[in-house]
Amino acid sequence: MTPQNTHPSLGALAKQAALITALAVGTAHASTPEELARASGCMSCHSAAEKVVGPSFKSIADKYRGQADAVASLSQSVRNGSRGNWGRIPMPPHASLAEADIKTLVTWVVKH
Ligand code: HEC
Repeated sequence: MTPQNTHPSLGALAKQAALITALAVGTAHASTPEELARASGCMSCHSAAEKVVGPSFKSIADKYRGQADAVASLSQSVRNGSRGNWGRIPMPPHASLAEADIKTLVTWVVKH
């Protein structure tokens, strides 16, 4: 008997684990925009009121307040990345985030 045959279910378990991980990363089942932001990694560079690596969500909201296309244009910044709007540090693209999640996040950001 080979080691593989004595543990026939390990491969299946590994596949299952990979699938669960993919689901957890891909569709963050967050119940609030804040949880979604945390699950999507936004909070490693942003905070509500203070500049971290990126600008605070409050200053983003202040800058774009009153602009009708703010959600659309900021969604593009999050999806494709952004540089030069705030300083010399660029925001990397978030191409793997679902469009609906980006919209949820940006709509929440501009309400700060
Ligand atoms: C690696 C750090 C980093 C991560 C992760 C990050 N950001 Fe940013 N973000 C930045 C930086 C830096 C800027 C400023 C970019 C610039 O000057 O144009 C920025 C800018 C922004 C802006 C303003 C863009 C503009 O056009 O003015 C929004 C909105 C934003 N981030 C939202 C998010 C959201 C939502 C997430 C999570 C999906 C996220 N960020 C993740 C660093 C980050």
